[in-house]
Amino acid sequence: MIETPDNVAAIARWAVLPEELIRSHENDGDFAKRHLINPYLLAELGDLTGVSVLDAGAGDGYLSRILARAGARVTAVEPAQALVDRIREREQTEHLGLTIHQTGLLEYQAEQGFDVVVCSMVLMAIPDWRPALETCVRSLRPGGRLVINLVHPAFEKLWTTWRENDGAYRVDRYLSEYEVPGPHASDFHRPLSAYLNAIMDAGCTLRKMIEPGLDPEVAAESGIEGIEAYVELPNFVIIIAERAA
Ligand SMILES: C[S@@+](CC[C@H](N)C(=O)[O-])C[C@H]1O[C@@H](n2cnc3c(N)ncnc32)[C@H](O)[C@@H]1O
Repeated sequence: MIETPDNVAAIARWAVLPEELIRSHENDGDFAKRHLINPYLLAELGDLTGVSVLDAGAGDGYLSRILARAGARVTAVEPAQALVDRIREREQTEHLGLTIHQTGLLEYQAEQGFDVVVCSMVLMAIPDWRPALETCVRSLRPGGRLVINLVHPAFEKLWTTWRENDGAYRVDRYLSEYEVPGPHASDFHRPLSAYLNAIMDAGCTLRKMIEPGLDPEVAAESGIEGIEAYVELPNFVIIIAERAA
């Protein structure tokens, strides 16, 4: 039986991410975020002038900074030491007005009702994720928008599996929950229905689901072996919901 880490153990893995990895990601994310997450998210959020946003599980804060530059008033919540240190360092030079809290989502208590809560690539990193989702919903004002990005649970190992299987994706386990070890920290697989039902149970109405596909020209120009897998199969899912008024 695989021993599943608890929330504290999971955060401890994020807390020691190598500095070069953080620095390679901290401006606008990695290739996948630049092409499959950031543009969709920004298009969906629209005009952010004066909009209060909670970046729940902010990582190195790249998204907090993008949102703040677009005019949002951003609060970044991040528990892992190496990452929160980097958010603070960048804020000292860039002065984007970020409010920064070092805490996990289960412990965080919002002081205000946010217009938007973005929880990007975070719920699948938390073993005990339901209370974290409930914090996100509680932190919204009534009518506020919840944006959740996940690695798509149906295509979690898309890129590696695609290369190993000669341009095809295979999945043999979907309905059960299990750990998906990564090079530095783990993700935790749950079926998509677990997330969607929990979002509705927490008091939200689903508004939209986006399964971003990579532009074939971007795939061809990237020179990244196997990246064409992202053109027809979605490696991510973006869920937009609204807290009941
Ligand atoms: C894949 S990273 C995503 C970071 C960032 N949102 C991004 O898109 O770059 C997962 C993040 O979840 C954070 N995390 C893990 N457990 C958490 C918890 N209990 N509460 C809040 N954040 C947590 C990690 O520290 C890490 O920053």
